[in-house]
Amino acid sequence: MRVLGVNAVFHDPAAALVVDGSVVAAAEEERFSRRKHGKRPVPFAAWELPELAMRWCLSEAGLEPADLDAVAYSYDASWCLPAEDMGLSDPWDHLRTTYAEKAAGFLATALPGLDRDKVVMVRHHVAHAASAGLAVAGDSSVLVLDGRGERASHLAGRYVDGKLDVLATTDLPDSVGLVYESLTEHLGFLRSSDEFKVMALASYGEPRFADALREHLHATGDGRYVAREPDWTRFAPRRVDDGTWGGAHADLAASVQLLVEELLVDLATWLHGRTGDRVLTMAGGIALNCVANSRVWRESPFEEVWVQPASGDSGTALGAALQVSADAGVRPQPMPGADLGRSWSDDELAGWLRTARVPFTTPDDLAGEVADVLAGDGVVAWFDGRAEFGPRALGRRSLMAHPGRAENLERLNDVKGREQFRPVAPMVLAERAQEIFTDGPFPSPYMLFVHTVRPEWRERIPAVTHVDGTARIQTVDAAGTPRVAALLEAFAERTGLPVVVNTSLNTAGRPMVDDPRDALELFGSAPVDVLVLGPHLVRRADAFAA
Ligand SMILES: [Fe+2]
Repeated sequence: MRVLGVNAVFHDPAAALVVDGSVVAAAEEERFSRRKHGKRPVPFAAWELPELAMRWCLSEAGLEPADLDAVAYSYDASWCLPAEDMGLSDPWDHLRTTYAEKAAGFLATALPGLDRDKVVMVRHHVAHAASAGLAVAGDSSVLVLDGRGERASHLAGRYVDGKLDVLATTDLPDSVGLVYESLTEHLGFLRSSDEFKVMALASYGEPRFADALREHLHATGDGRYVAREPDWTRFAPRRVDDGTWGGAHADLAASVQLLVEELLVDLATWLHGRTGDRVLTMAGGIALNCVANSRVWRESPFEEVWVQPASGDSGTALGAALQVSADAGVRPQPMPGADLGRSWSDDELAGWLRTARVPFTTPDDLAGEVADVLAGDGVVAWFDGRAEFGPRALGRRSLMAHPGRAENLERLNDVKGREQFRPVAPMVLAERAQEIFTDGPFPSPYMLFVHTVRPEWRERIPAVTHVDGTARIQTVDAAGTPRVAALLEAFAERTGLPVVVNTSLNTAGRPMVDDPRDALELFGSAPVDVLVLGPHLVRRADAFAA
C-alpha cells in the first residue's frame, strides 16, 4: 500500500510517503524552494502544491505517480462551511474551498500518470490527529489544536486499534490558534509564522492581564473551549518590531501564554476523564508550544505525553497518509524519528566540496577535532544524515556553540539575525540529562518540552539557560545520532559539560539548510568557524585562505 500524503491548503506545504504502513520519506516544500513556510496562508495560494517535496518523496522510493495506491490530501472541502456561517470575515475564504475541491485535478497535473480517482480527502484535524495517534505504538488519547481546519479548531479523541473515535471538537470562530496568531500580529511579528516569538517574549513578562482576558480564553468543562480575539489595545498598544521588548507587551504575551497553558491542562484532564488512557499524543500548531506541553506533562493525569515533531500543518501530510493506510487496514508502524528528509552519502558530500573547491579534511577523530573548536569557543555548522521533518534542528542541520559562555546567546542570535530575547537550546547526552535538567520528560528527543535547569548548573551553562531558569532540551543518544553523541562525549571530556548549544542551521528569515549547497552558502555568508558535512571538516581559515 503506497500512500503519498500532501499538505497544501494553508501553509507549510509538505509531502510524506508511507509504504505498507512505514514512513519512507517526509519533507517540507520550503526546504526545496527556500521560501520560509512555503507560502503565505492566504486563500489565493491554496491551490499551490508542494511539487518539489512530492516528487522527491516518490524518487526516494523509486516510485512513479502511477505506482501510488492513494494520494491523501489533508483537507476535505466537503466539510467546509461558508466563512460567514463560521463567524469569520474573510471575503476570499470561498476561494480556498474552491481550490481544495479541485485538488485532485491539480495533483494529477503536477504528478503526470496519477489517476485522479486515487486522491482521498482527509479532514484536516483527523490528519493532525493521525500524525500523532498513528505515529506511536499502541492506543492513545489524542488532542489537536491549531488555527483552523475546515470548520473547527480542535479535536479531542482516542485511537484504539488504529481507529479514531472523536470525543469533542470546537468549531470556529473559537480558535486558540487564531487568538495566538492575532496576538503575534499585534506584537509586531509575522502572523502564522512567528508565534514562537510570543512564547519567548512571555517569559520576560508578568501575566497581569490574565484575569481580564480569561473570559476570552477558557475551557468550558465539556472538553471544549471559548477562544475569541479580544481588543488587544485595551491592554497594550500595537507593537512596532523595533528590536526592544518588555513592559506591557511582554505582560500581554505572558498573560495569553498562561491562559493557553491552563486551557491545555483543562482539555487534557477532561480527555483523560473520558478515556483513562496512559498516553496522550498531541499535534496541531499549538502543540509546538513547548512551555504549554510541559505543563500538560506535569499537571495532566496522563503518564506519558508524545508530541508530533511536525505539529504544524506540514505534519498533516504525514498524518493523512497514515490515516488512509490505517483505513485500508494497514496499521502504521511507529514513526522512527524526525530524520525523514534528504541525505547524501559521504562520497557525494566530498564531491560537493571538491566542486566548490573548498579544502577539507576527513579526520579519523572528527568528534575530537570539532570538540576542540567548540571548546575554543568556535561556532560550528553541522550537517549530517537525513534532514529533519518539522521546524526543529535535531542534530542533522544544526549550528553549535559552547554553552558555558553567556555571550554565545547574543552571538548566535547575531549570526542568525534574530531578536535577542530568543533563547537557544541545549543538546545533552541522554544518559546525563537528568544530572542537569529536571521537571520534564526523559528522553526528550524532539525539543518539544521545556525542562528546569538544576540551580547548580545554571552558572555552568548560561548560554542555554533561559531568563526563567528553563531550557528546551534535546536528549541525544548514540543509536539516533552517533556522530553527535560522540561529539558531546568529546566536548564533555574537554570541558566537563555534556551539553552544546544547538540552534537550527539557517540565517534569519530563511528555511533550515537542507542540501549541501545551502550549507556552503551559509558557511560563505555567516561567521561560522567550521563546517561539518558528514565525516568531512572545513575550517574557515583554510577555506578563505584558499
Ligand atoms: Fe492545522
